[in-house]
Amino acid sequence: METIHKIPRHIAIIMDGNGRWAKERGMARIFGHQNGVDTIREIVRAARELGVKYLTLYAFSKENWSRPKNEIAFLMNLLSQFLDSELKELEENQIRFNAIGKLEELPREVREKIKRNMERTAKNDQLVLTLALSYSSRVEIIDAIKRICEQVKQGKLNPEDVSEASFSKELYTTGIPDPDLLIRTSGEMRISNFLLWQISYTEIYVSEKYWPDFKKSDFLEAIRVYGTRERRFGRAETTPLAQ
Ligand code: FPP
Repeated sequence: METIHKIPRHIAIIMDGNGRWAKERGMARIFGHQNGVDTIREIVRAARELGVKYLTLYAFSKENWSRPKNEIAFLMNLLSQFLDSELKELEENQIRFNAIGKLEELPREVREKIKRNMERTAKNDQLVLTLALSYSSRVEIIDAIKRICEQVKQGKLNPEDVSEASFSKELYTTGIPDPDLLIRTSGEMRISNFLLWQISYTEIYVSEKYWPDFKKSDFLEAIRVYGTRERRFGRAETTPLAQ
């Protein structure tokens, strides 16, 4: 296999297609979510091995609260189990656990396990694994604006001093660099309210595979393709003519 030279520092993933994966097998949607957890484990391990420093997974959106009650209950239960089952591996592999979103909307048991995992892994420095939970990028941006308005109101901040850097610090992702690569599975060409501000210059890779079918080899392929892209951040192409 060809060696991968350019490893993205931060990879964000929209894990999509669990429901369709299950439906194709004549199973209930929840079966897809259950199998999706195995993919999470495989991709976290691969990211750690490759030296990716930040991995951010879209696990539950604010919009997902409008799904049927039994599916939500199943997902919360799965999340709760996941927070227990993966803790040992996170600790052994020096992975720091993090969560972003309206965490206060999650069941108390889940909130407590998130807090525990964050505390227990706070000093780990090989990979930061962030789960976006009850997450909406628009809400995140509005929350940041509210915090900035409050600082202005208290006379602590001059509106002229609001900059891209200072705004970024008010987002849930403060301290995390913007993603270099965004992967979405199941072939959908949508951002679905995920990290809207942070992905301004992120390379996007869409895989046709449903999330439960997305394997380490697919992850490596996404990274290989990323390595072939020329990231210009709005600058001119680096051709002799442009130099
Ligand atoms: C999208 O599939 C997937 C989600 C709702 C989020 C991802 C959830 C998991 C991988 C499982 C649970 C996660 C954790 C962290 C324990 P979909 O249901 O939208 O699929 P569809 O578009 O085919 O209906």
